[in-house]
Amino acid sequence: MSTMRCATTTALFLILIASAVAASRSAWSGVYSQDQASRGQKAYNSQCARCHGEALLGGENSPPLVDREFLDKWYGKSVGSLVDFTRKTMPSDGPGKLSRRQCTDIIAYLLSANGFPAGESDLDSDAAVLNEILIQPKP
Ligand code: HEC
Repeated sequence: MSTMRCATTTALFLILIASAVAASRSAWSGVYSQDQASRGQKAYNSQCARCHGEALLGGENSPPLVDREFLDKWYGKSVGSLVDFTRKTMPSDGPGKLSRRQCTDIIAYLLSANGFPAGESDLDSDAAVLNEILIQPKP
């Protein structure tokens, strides 16, 4: 009897995992639009470039936001976690002032600068949507 219950629990658990995996999308699937990345670039230049540099290569005390050093830290995490981190902690000398929308546009620009392709529509600033998009190594 308890073996049966265990098998049922295992089956339910596997179904849950399968649906969670099916719901997630890769950041390689064209998750932002070119227009959005351009808006994000303008915001980046006015809010972020003074520390992280116009070419996103980092500055004296600020890390780069492109290439291996940056990506290695974010692989396996969601675009949502990157938006949340940025909104809560950046700019480091006065965080919490960017709207979700602005921050999502800036992250679209970061994705573009890191070689992730643009798609048809904007990256939605809704947390539940953003949390399902994974930053992964190029497939
Ligand atoms: C006053 C300087 C300054 C400004 C302006 C600034 N940052 Fe930062 N940023 C930092 C520093 C310092 C760190 C490293 C400390 C940390 O990770 O908390 C950092 C870290 C980051 C990281 C994590 C990098 C990594 O390696 O994982 C991201 C993403 C980021 N900043 C994005 C932004 C964005 C987007 C803006 C503009 C809205 C911005 N920052 C504005 C100083 C700044």
